[in-house]
Amino acid sequence: MCSVVGYIGQRQSCALVMEGLARLEYRGYDSSGFACVDNETRRLMSAKSAGRLSQLVTRLQEKPIDGTVGVGHTRWSTHGVASEANAHPHFDCTKKISLVHNGIIENYLTLKKELEAEGHVFLSQTDSEVIAHLFERAFEQTKSCKKAVMQLVSQLHGAYAVVIVMEEHPELLIGIRKSSPLCIGVGDGEMFIASDVLAFAGKTDRVSFLPEKTFTLVTKDKAAVYDFDGQLLDLPVEKLDSVWTATEKQGHEHYMLKEIYEQKSAIYKTVSLCQSFGESVWNSIGISADLIKNTKRIKIIGCGTSWHAGRIAEFFFEEITRIPTTAVLASEFRYRTFFPELDTLYIAISQSGETADTLEVVRMLNAHGQKVLALTNVASSTLVRESEGFLLTQAGPELAVASTKAFTTQVAALYWLAARMALERTVISDGQFKQCQEELLMTANILENGLDAYKYQIFEKLALFYSNFSAFIFLGRHSTYPFALEAALKLKEIAYVFAQAYPAGELKHGPIALIDEKTPVCLFSHPDPLIYQKLLSNAQEIKARKGHLIVFAFEGQTELQALADTCLMFPAVNSHLAVLSMTGVMQLFMYAIARARGCDIDRPRNLAKSVTVE
Ligand code: AGP
Repeated sequence: MCSVVGYIGQRQSCALVMEGLARLEYRGYDSSGFACVDNETRRLMSAKSAGRLSQLVTRLQEKPIDGTVGVGHTRWSTHGVASEANAHPHFDCTKKISLVHNGIIENYLTLKKELEAEGHVFLSQTDSEVIAHLFERAFEQTKSCKKAVMQLVSQLHGAYAVVIVMEEHPELLIGIRKSSPLCIGVGDGEMFIASDVLAFAGKTDRVSFLPEKTFTLVTKDKAAVYDFDGQLLDLPVEKLDSVWTATEKQGHEHYMLKEIYEQKSAIYKTVSLCQSFGESVWNSIGISADLIKNTKRIKIIGCGTSWHAGRIAEFFFEEITRIPTTAVLASEFRYRTFFPELDTLYIAISQSGETADTLEVVRMLNAHGQKVLALTNVASSTLVRESEGFLLTQAGPELAVASTKAFTTQVAALYWLAARMALERTVISDGQFKQCQEELLMTANILENGLDAYKYQIFEKLALFYSNFSAFIFLGRHSTYPFALEAALKLKEIAYVFAQAYPAGELKHGPIALIDEKTPVCLFSHPDPLIYQKLLSNAQEIKARKGHLIVFAFEGQTELQALADTCLMFPAVNSHLAVLSMTGVMQLFMYAIARARGCDIDRPRNLAKSVTVE
């Protein structure tokens, strides 16, 4: 979603804030802005621009402003179009208070009406501007920054990470956090405040994460943190993991491509972390061995690609661990009738650990005393802090909006967990568990080999041909159906091509009417002989109707290969890991189509990396 970055110190803030924003631009990028207390005038000055951050950079080059305290923002619109007026920072009526906001103010309309009746003038359609005017009123009444923040938060409903710069207090940055992440980078004689540590990684390796419902008054030397009742808190300063500073493209054309190629190593690192737990695994991930032994049901919660990983893992937990498992969409689950079940293990999956829908479900589960295991890529995330236990994927920073290595590491971690739980419950033997781990690593090799084997065909032939089609159908069965959902999501989000995923068996119940030469059908086969036979029949049904067939098949599936217009073959693997073996090539194929269509692959339109609003 939106990114907020603030700086206070001895250096000039503009370049530092802009660099931080550039690193976080993947989170939201339809307009941007910067404000600082200007060196020369000592007045609060700002620059804003609709469109990409580069437009703001140009504007700042043409008309520079700078100062030792500044804030910046990149926006992903919720209220109001992407325009200069709606871009942050927003100001109060006196133009002496500026602020940036990530989140949604749910009661902004009521507040806006109230403030307008008092004479406040609004210049944007955003919910965020209301915070500036409310703070103006609170500061006028209390004459104290601390008291004004306390008054402000008592009036706001919703989610917010806010950073405020005031003309009257150029020695101060104010940060406020409720349901939207905010962290403080602690430097020597300088401080950063941002929605993500990436903003200041490399500038300082010391960080404090603001807890839920807290605010901070930051000077260049110190950050005083308070809860919403004004009680001073003692916040630990942590050391930032250096892996999160390696964010360059390293010669790749896009982050997405780089991240596709990092998957083997990311899977290896994830498995190696899991193996390092040894006998104390349940202690290490924070879930009691008793719950693991007695679990009767597993419910997996997630959104988008993380949900797809969960849907694939349903088959791992049911077939390897022998526990009934359902993966649910967080945004749907929240609004269904909830039946608390104490022998259910909940697994919340989120690459970022900041997805609002997923976090709200976790909060609801916590309120019912349910046990939640977080599976996330970000150790410092809200999801980790708010869950009973956590298991960390080792994908490293994923900057392309389209998830690739986060997905594969989620699938790998879930497979490992299913096998480890099966061992704990004596459903499989020690030898079988070892074999599962070996096969997992072997599949990571297959994934990478597939990239090498198919890259020329994909880039030089397939992408050029398939980039001309305007709609695709993706089919799979069993675990390859959620994989088809993931492939369709990839194509939609990065290539802007309509794609529909269906369970292959459902084809004859309606969607078969769509089959023609103009809509390629991409069918993901399965190594299981029975499922393969069923998929083969589906492929025949498609060819009988003159459909154009792309097939991802496994060695020996020659009948399917013979039917295909395009066939990509994979070595036979353990049938649970079939999807993992095909993942790299599927992602590369979708990437290459998007590239051939000239799309902005790392920053697709309308999207943001981390969806921190509901
Ligand atoms: C994946 O390519 C998407 N960009 C998106 O579906 C993403 O997986 C979803 O928003 C969930 O994010 P999370 O894993 O960070 O919770």
